[in-house]
Amino acid sequence: MRKIEIADSADMLTHIVAEQFVRVTAEALEARGRCTVALSGGSSPKRLHQALSGEPFRSRVSWDQIDFFWGDERHVPVDHPDSNYRMAAETLLSKVPVRPEKVHRIHSEIPDAALAARDYETEIRAAFGGSSSTPRFDLILLGLGSDGHTASLFPGTSALDERRRLCVENWVAALGAYRITMTLPLINAARTVSFVVSGAEKAAVVGRVLNERDPAPPLPSRLVRPSDGELWWMLDRSAARDLS
Ligand code: 6PG
Repeated sequence: MRKIEIADSADMLTHIVAEQFVRVTAEALEARGRCTVALSGGSSPKRLHQALSGEPFRSRVSWDQIDFFWGDERHVPVDHPDSNYRMAAETLLSKVPVRPEKVHRIHSEIPDAALAARDYETEIRAAFGGSSSTPRFDLILLGLGSDGHTASLFPGTSALDERRRLCVENWVAALGAYRITMTLPLINAARTVSFVVSGAEKAAVVGRVLNERDPAPPLPSRLVRPSDGELWWMLDRSAARDLS
């Protein structure tokens, strides 16, 4: 099930996504007594993090009961300016009462990206009780790159073909760098997946991903289709300009 929410402005989009965060996390804790959230990287999430770390949202979230993960990470040390963990820590996690043992960062400082990915898969499985089945995240937040990538699932990269592992190292030739990323099987097992996209510069790629004329091969973001969950595309009007 795919739902598209179009907000009049980037600020309204942030408000709508923050409300969804409050709702989904509360529902998860009510239904299952736990909540697992994967944050996304890049720059877009900063607006959401700023909103959530202040009122009226901050006091409506049970921060100390949520397990936080990341959809992907750059293969850099945790204090590197490009670190998704660093961005989230600075803009959100340092400002709300999360429990450190529930913050599951990707150990991207491990020199071998393959080992960092296996380490993260072990961390995810342990956080979900060690079950061999694919963990179901309550909420996975995603961004959209202008080339149609999401998390670190870039066009033409090997991670797109992974069907067993929960996360993998992914060599991104276009960046000349490794990334560590959740895989499609893990993302598509989630209960709620929300793309949050704003700005006119993303309008063309939003149109390519969401309009039915699917380019071959499909853009990575188009492959995100939760098998038994909700898929939300949360857009501002600028990013939705090219939707038919
Ligand atoms: C990353 C993100 C990536 C991001 C998109 C959009 O590590 O960079 O996970 O998938 O969401 O590149 O980034 P912006 O929000 O900065 O446009």
